[in-house]
Amino acid sequence: MKFFIDTANLDQIRQAYEMGVLDGVTTNPSLMAKEGIKGKENQHKHYVDICNIVKSDVSAEVISTDYEGMIAEGEELAALNEHIVIKLPCTADGIRAVKYFSEKGMKTNCTLVFSVGQALLAAKAGATYVSPFVGRLDDISEDGVGLIKEIVDMYNYYGYATQVLAASIRHTRHIIDCLKAGADVATCPLAAIKGLLNHPLTDIGLEKFLADYKKVNG
Ligand code: E4P
Repeated sequence: MKFFIDTANLDQIRQAYEMGVLDGVTTNPSLMAKEGIKGKENQHKHYVDICNIVKSDVSAEVISTDYEGMIAEGEELAALNEHIVIKLPCTADGIRAVKYFSEKGMKTNCTLVFSVGQALLAAKAGATYVSPFVGRLDDISEDGVGLIKEIVDMYNYYGYATQVLAASIRHTRHIIDCLKAGADVATCPLAAIKGLLNHPLTDIGLEKFLADYKKVNG
């Protein structure tokens, strides 16, 4: 399973990268806005800064909603750095744009996916990644992890190469559940990734090892 960090915060990206377990980054317009990055030039520079830290897949989302706009914007984003993955919404124009880029051999992430049907269209269009939003489904009392499992089963049954990227992960438990459901990737906030380390027996065990060492060695 691959780990992506779901943020546009450079400090958090660096921290996750330094842990040595990071496989990529996902951003979206809300995450970019949260960092206060205004204007196309600054946004482009920020994407390049992220790519230079992780040197692996970095999803950069288009804000155009029409096909022509998505193509122009996607081409521009992809030209910024070899690690850019063009992130496109799961709309009719978005699926058409996914198809366009996949035929050109360019990486895409089809986002805002909330159903098996949407995931099927993304795979048929040749998306590199499909991003079902686990937390947002849970927020409306639907089963986010259940959707991950359904998509994984459907892709395996038909042999689609699209990777299931579990998005909208809110906590550590989501990561474990998505892993069990067979997700290829989980994109997570830093706190959820760090949460995987937490176990009281690790802390107690380490404390005892150090105390025993001190008893003998002073
Ligand atoms: C990432 O690709 C998604 O845009 C992101 O995970 C959405 O997360 P949220 O539902 O917490 O905003």
